[in-house]
Amino acid sequence: MEASAEVNQRIARITAHLHPSNLQMEENSSLRAANCRAKGGAPGFKVAILGASGGIGQPLAMLMKINPLVSVLHLYDVVNSPGVTADISHMDTGAVVRGFLGQPQLESALTGMDLVIIPAGVPRKPGMTRDDLFNINAGIVKTLCEGIAKCCPNAIVNLISNPVNSTVPIAAEVFKKSGTYDPKRLLGVTMLDVVRANTFVAEVLGLDPREVDVPVVGGHSGVTILPLLSQVKPPCTLTKEESEYLTNRIQNGGTEVVEAKAGAGSATLSMVILCSFCDLLDIELQIFIRANKEN
Ligand code: NAD
Ligand code: LMR
Repeated sequence: MEASAEVNQRIARITAHLHPSNLQMEENSSLRAANCRAKGGAPGFKVAILGASGGIGQPLAMLMKINPLVSVLHLYDVVNSPGVTADISHMDTGAVVRGFLGQPQLESALTGMDLVIIPAGVPRKPGMTRDDLFNINAGIVKTLCEGIAKCCPNAIVNLISNPVNSTVPIAAEVFKKSGTYDPKRLLGVTMLDVVRANTFVAEVLGLDPREVDVPVVGGHSGVTILPLLSQVKPPCTLTKEESEYLTNRIQNGGTEVVEAKAGAGSATLSMVILCSFCDLLDIELQIFIRANKEN
């Protein structure tokens, strides 16, 4: 083969690689990914995740995309949300996914939402308490809740951002100020304490964690986490030593993970919380459906 023909072939191969046929088609026709819309599943809930690019946000977005109760999923963050949205939107489930980046797009992300889940903010590092996050996360949560009050005042709001003991009251004050406060629609996510309690009690009793149910009341920080060890199901008798060990381990479960994951990026138990969170969310959404039917 002549040298010039070989060169031409190589150029053609490289061009085809850089511009695969589907992209060439996009250039030459009106068909573009942004114009293509699959039909969503049955009518369902419109859910926004604020802080969708983070350690909690990304797996949460994936689980919401799988959830058959969700018809529209809005992914908002101040960084990386276009990439996360592209990735999640390829999943072949019913929910239509849309991405929103930065404060100017917050209102579009929130308009019309039924449920807003907030894992936005910074996580703690070893040596920090959840309260050490207050200065940064309080401001973030306040701004996001002001957007909710304006754009979707009837939405259920789930606060994951720490310190949950303080971010929930901040949200409540924002909603009271705007006249949209409904205590039944504002929840701090503390399910992780129940998950840990079930696991640790099962370990002590030598049971399968799936068969153990430990009620936990109070808040989501240190001594405010109150496992009701006298109410464990199946009923059991714990020694004083076992009760003290379990109470201490449950109350400090988050710190145990933060210390153990030191230097390993996002220091949270996101996968565990999210698996249980999805069960919780199903329950919440069912309550929401029932309440709406009754009204
Ligand atoms: P992360 O740093 O991985 O992700 C946080 C995300 O929030 C990032 O993508 C960041 O860009 C985004 N963000 C920051 N400011 C924002 C703003 N103004 N608007 C929108 N997004 C913003 O952290 P993570 O591991 O996902 O943890 C997030 C929060 O959740 C932390 O406060 C952490 O302590 C808390 N957390 C709570 C529980 C719980 O059980 N309630 C469990 C795990 C983590
Ligand atoms: C947890 O309990 O794992 C979360 O609240 C994260 C943390 O900082 O402890």
